Amino acid sequence: MKKVDVVIGLQWGDEGKGKIVDVLTPKYKVVARFQGGPNAGHTLEFDGKKMVLHTVPSGIFRENSINIIGNGVVVDPVILMDEIKKINAIGVPTAGKILLSKKAHLILPTHRILDAAQEAAKGGAKIGSTLKGIGPAYTDKVSRSGLRAGDVLRPDFSQKYAALKQKHVALLKQLGYPFSVEEQEREWLQSIEQLRGELTIIDSEYEVNELLKQGSILAEGAQGSMLDVDFGSYPFVTSSSTVCAGACTGLGVAPSSIGEVIGIFKAYCTRVGSGPFPTELHDEVGAQLSRQGNEFGSTTGRARRCGWLDLVALRYSIMVSGATQLFMMKADVMDNFDAIRVCVAYRINGAATDRYPYEVDTPIEPVYEEFRGWKKPVSGCRTEKDLPQELLDYVKFIELQTGVPVKFISVGPDRSETVLR
Ligand code: GDP
Ligand code: IMO
Ligand code: MG
Repeated sequence: MKKVDVVIGLQWGDEGKGKIVDVLTPKYKVVARFQGGPNAGHTLEFDGKKMVLHTVPSGIFRENSINIIGNGVVVDPVILMDEIKKINAIGVPTAGKILLSKKAHLILPTHRILDAAQEAAKGGAKIGSTLKGIGPAYTDKVSRSGLRAGDVLRPDFSQKYAALKQKHVALLKQLGYPFSVEEQEREWLQSIEQLRGELTIIDSEYEVNELLKQGSILAEGAQGSMLDVDFGSYPFVTSSSTVCAGACTGLGVAPSSIGEVIGIFKAYCTRVGSGPFPTELHDEVGAQLSRQGNEFGSTTGRARRCGWLDLVALRYSIMVSGATQLFMMKADVMDNFDAIRVCVAYRINGAATDRYPYEVDTPIEPVYEEFRGWKKPVSGCRTEKDLPQELLDYVKFIELQTGVPVKFISVGPDRSETVLR
């Protein structure tokens, strides 16, 4: 039976989804992004090269793969066309390999400016958005005034663009935000021309369902479950459905066609931007995770906040998406730790709970269990029997606590640095 297998981040993003999609792609002909936009930064390392993808699905470096940008994605044509140029520059052809949904919404230059204006207006309560225009673009989608990729093929595209831009200009004036859009607009319109000429714009829901008859498809999530617009720590979230269900609406596939739900998590936690992070470390241990893990944003370069693994949040994400298997990333980052802690419950107002609270300003005290560190480099390990017992004990504890098997342990950024269990 052909299925849509879904890769999703179970934490606050940057779990290593790009690497995993690249590793899994040889098993699939089709990879499809279903939500988010250029707020995503998915890093792939292979053959001594490092590539960061924002909009193009992470299957692109595999020969003969088909990479679909689904209807649930928001697309900035400037970023997309620039990304394609960079991929071509390392000798990887993209012609015919990237298909863009007509129903994917476009990010306008004024969406980016609105993102900045709205963040500025929030002052100290800002979300810490990537400033790529994600929130404003999804706002227009839901409020039924958005511009879609399919519109670039219509004769009235210019009028539609002008009307939406005008609406944004009025909003920006209301906010009293100083801006000038001319230069960004010129670049954006040029990219629209390129996109029209070079990309295949399709009725993606038909194409995806046709391709699904021929073979299983890999759906690539962006962001993470704790940034989901419904289930994340609202309002400190992104504006799309990052959980497994998002793959159905973001591609037009039936829930019954979902196969494996592959949940990706780091052996610890990171978060970039504002919002609650119960296990965040402000000490030398946090600094060590940041250094060893090179925890700087792939999209914005901002330092990521670091902390211990949070099993309350992880179990919550697994529940919401029905993860059928777990992939643990960046085990090698903790090679030098004497002791490793894992949050198994929260203490809220003196009472222990295993539930993630509704209120984002709830003071949470994590309840930890401690494990002995393995104190050996693991990046050379390729099979389970190469791995230190302390690391395997850590993994078994996670399996026990979540009820889901850890099928894959990543021990380095490269495609080859993996242990399959
Ligand atoms: P994504 O957004 O989920 O695709 O993740 P990012 O690419 O934003 O961030 C993950 C970072 O960790 C990237 O720099 C990867 O190259 C790197 N990475 C992935 N897996 C591993 C691993 O097992 N070990 C180490 N040290 N780095 C990893
Ligand atoms: P990948 O796919 C980590 C965070 C931002 C901010 C919040 C809202 O690489 O895992 P937005 O620009 O979406 O309005 O920002 O969400 N955020 C991410 N954090 N990884 C990402 O993507 C993210 N995309 C958005 O930092 O806190
Ligand atoms: Mg990322």
